[in-house]
Order: sequence, then C-alpha cells, then structure tokens
Amino acid sequence: MQLLTGMANKSCTVGHADANNITNVSLLESEVTEFPQTPEYFGLNRPIGAEYDLNDLHVVGTIPVEVEGSFFRAVPDPAFAPFMEDGGAILSGDGMISAIRFAAGKASISMRYVQTERHKAEMAAGEALFGKYRNPFTDMPAADGLDRTVANTTPIWHAGRLLLAKEDGRPYRVDPKTLETIGSHDFGGKLQSPTSTAHARIDPMTGEMFMFGYEAGGLASTKIAYFIVDKDGNLTREQWFDAPYCAMMHDFTITENYVLFPVYPTTADLDRLKAGGDHWVHHMDLESWVGVMPRYGDVSELRWFKGPKGVFCYHMMNAHEDVDGLIQFDQCLSSVNAFPFIQRASGLSIPPWEADNRFARWTINLTDGSDSIIETVVGPPGDFPVIPASKQGRPFDYGWMLTMNPEMQGPPVLGGPVGAMFNMLMRLNFLGNPPQSLALPPAHSFNEPVHVPSATDGHEGWLISVVDHQTGPEEFEHECWIIEAGNVGVGAVAKIVIPQRLRPQVHGWWVNSEQLANAV
Ligand SMILES: [Fe+2]
Repeated sequence: MQLLTGMANKSCTVGHADANNITNVSLLESEVTEFPQTPEYFGLNRPIGAEYDLNDLHVVGTIPVEVEGSFFRAVPDPAFAPFMEDGGAILSGDGMISAIRFAAGKASISMRYVQTERHKAEMAAGEALFGKYRNPFTDMPAADGLDRTVANTTPIWHAGRLLLAKEDGRPYRVDPKTLETIGSHDFGGKLQSPTSTAHARIDPMTGEMFMFGYEAGGLASTKIAYFIVDKDGNLTREQWFDAPYCAMMHDFTITENYVLFPVYPTTADLDRLKAGGDHWVHHMDLESWVGVMPRYGDVSELRWFKGPKGVFCYHMMNAHEDVDGLIQFDQCLSSVNAFPFIQRASGLSIPPWEADNRFARWTINLTDGSDSIIETVVGPPGDFPVIPASKQGRPFDYGWMLTMNPEMQGPPVLGGPVGAMFNMLMRLNFLGNPPQSLALPPAHSFNEPVHVPSATDGHEGWLISVVDHQTGPEEFEHECWIIEAGNVGVGAVAKIVIPQRLRPQVHGWWVNSEQLANAV
C-alpha cells in the first residue's frame, strides 16, 4: 500500500494495479506532525485516516463453517488535528465503520468514515471546527447549530438496519453492504430525544430494542428519555424522567420484566461547560443509584435504589430475575471513573491497582421495601463483557470479558481511552466452576470480541477479536482471531492477517449472512 505524506487533510484515491486483492484505497492522511504527541494521538492511538477495501486476506488456520457474516466495528479516528488541548479528545475521534466479512472460508475488511454532519463540515472546511469533547462553547463559529456527534462507539444491528451510535446524539444509519452513510436516524421522525445510548439492549424473545438517552433536555440536564423500538424498527413508546443528578450514563440493562438505569457519580455542569471546562467531573462523595421500573410500565413507577459512593461502571454484562424474584445485576465496577482525563478534571489520581476494580453482582429486592443494594464480588477486574445474545436479560451461566494478565511479563500495550489495552480474554462461569483464560504474549492486546452462536447443541460458539501486536514505538501488526468460545484457553482456530494499521476499536456487533441478506 502506498502511503501519502504531506497531504494534510486531503482525501484521495490510490490505484493498485499490482495488487488485485486490494481495491478502492482512499487515504485521508493528515500529517502526523499536526497531531500533538500526547497519549490520545501517539502509538496505537495514532490517527490513520484510511478508507479501504482489502479482499482475500491471508488466513492462518481454518475459519469455522458457521462463521459466515460480518463483524462490524466502531473505530474512532480523528480526521483533523485539534485546535485546542483536550484530554477528552480520545472520545471525540470521527467514527469509522469497519466490516470484517467472512464468506466461504475467506475474509475481507472494509473501512469507511461515518459521514456525520460534523465530519462533512470539517472535510469541507479542511480543518477541525469542533472544540472540546461535548462542549459546544469551545467550537469555532462555523460549527454553530451542527450535530456534534461523531457516531464512533457501537454498531447496532436491529430490524434489518445498521446504526452507528454514540451517546451524545442520535445514531447514524449506514448501509451494511457498502458502508455508505444514509444519515442521522430518528426512527421515522418519532424520536423526541436528541440523544440515544450506544448500548441498546435487544430482547431475544420479542426482538424489541430498548434504549435511552441522557441529557435529553439539553447539556447537563437531568432528563432521561426511555424508549422502545419494536422488532420491525418502529419506535412504539418514549417517556422522559429525571435522574437524581446529571450523570454519564454509558450503559443500562434489562431483565425479562424490568429495565434498570444505573447512575454513577460522574457529573456534568452547565456553568463549567460555559466557562470552557470539561464535560465530566467524578465525585467520590456522591451516591450511586439504580432506577428500576417495569419494562412496559410508566415512569411514575420508577424506584431508585441506593448504591455505594464514588463507584463507576462503563459496561454491564447482564441482569436477570432469579428464582426468588430478586434482580441480579452484573457489572464491571470500579471505585472511581477509570478514564485518566476525567480523574485529572476531578483532582483525582487513583492508579488502577488502587481502584478496587471488580466484577460485581448487585442484588436488588423489589418486595422488602428497602432501597438498598447488596453487592457480591463474583469475578476479577475487567471490561468489555460479552454474553450470547440469546441470554440478554435472562438467567445465564457464563460470559466473557477482557482483563489484564496478572502474571504478565512486561508492560501492557498503551492505547485506548484508559491508556492501557487488555491482554487476556476470560470466560467466567457463574455455576462455581473455575474461569478459563487466554493470555496474550507480551506486546499484544485484545479489542472487544463479538460472540457468534453455534447451531450445534452444547457448543458455545465462537469469539472474534482483533489482536494488536506492537513491534516498535509506532509500529503495529494486527490480526483478527477466531476463538472457540467454550474453550478459550486453546487459542485461536483461525487468524486473519490485516495488512493495514488499525486504531483501537470501541465496540463491535456480529451480523450473520442471513441477517445481512434480509437487510432493509
Ligand atoms: Fe461502551
């Protein structure tokens, strides 16, 4: 591949007559020197800016017959260097949609920018127009009134449509075959909320998608919009309520009969934003809360349960109602917000080894009149939890997540918003059996896996994850690994070599070939 240098912020298409397996490589190569040499832009986080289609990738091993479909990945990648210092910039990279496609034992990869209003405006201007993360008071005048979202967090497949979501705005719809952006998606004009979570929960029985949007009443507001989209993609109800305070509500969860809204004390303040400050500050002395209401109930039925002070969770594995009717809610919990730039804005500096990270089960009793929560630690620290889609909101025996190898020799790969990438994949068993783990060699890291179910009874299916290998200060190699989900310790059954530099992925979504064939 020919890399173009010195073409600051200009897009071009490169022909490849000598490489018939590579087509349509378009590079948006901002000069590396334009980006600050800070952790948000250095090493694995270095902006790439390349759109491409690479076919017939080299496969080591055999791709399982059941792995037929597309692994969609959301990859932030800022197209333009910032015009102001911003620790939160790591969350503001332009959304790219990546598809790693599997068909008949072969694999390909495609990468495209999501053509958000923001990305298009900056492309037209040839420079960054938007200032700090979620602070429009720091924008250039040319950005006034434009949609600030970068659609960089989660690809969501629902009702035959592919959406790219980020919690500060509405999702963008993307064509799953061409990866061309269709536009901002408001569910046929029905969605009132200007924001929508990147963590939708889809009920495996009804096919409904449960979502919410926070700061729905505007910047730093306490308004939450809770909405349901039916199996055909129609928004069927939307209700608003107030959270105890304006918090970063990154994820939520459902059970068979209830919806849970966890609130952790990382808060926003309008006056701080108007003064050009950071969106988020974490408070160690504020209580956490979980709002619980019947899934199809009225928000007036919402009850708030009080959790410990100062804790934070980005991702929940699942929630379910047990045989006694208790709600069991499983999450990757920490005693502080793990993002260093949020800690800095909060006057905190708590290293990971002092953050009391744990996999925690919170038990909520809806019948004893108490508003308290009982916590049980059921697993080690980690994040990026994954379960079979069929177990969403239901009792489940096992799940997977990424963690740090406690016996690792050498430092982890630096990258991503926390600053260090995970280097171990773990299968947790909730029936009392020991966990399984797959530890990577030094200088390797995992990105969040997706789960591919198996049609064979008793087979747990497959996990697919992009693995990074650091070979020098600014040099990396990447592979996509396919791992047997019920036997992760064995390692990959297939490794697909990706001959292109990749930035860290946020979340992914598996869409099988039958679903793709039935795309709307
Ligand atoms: Fe997330």
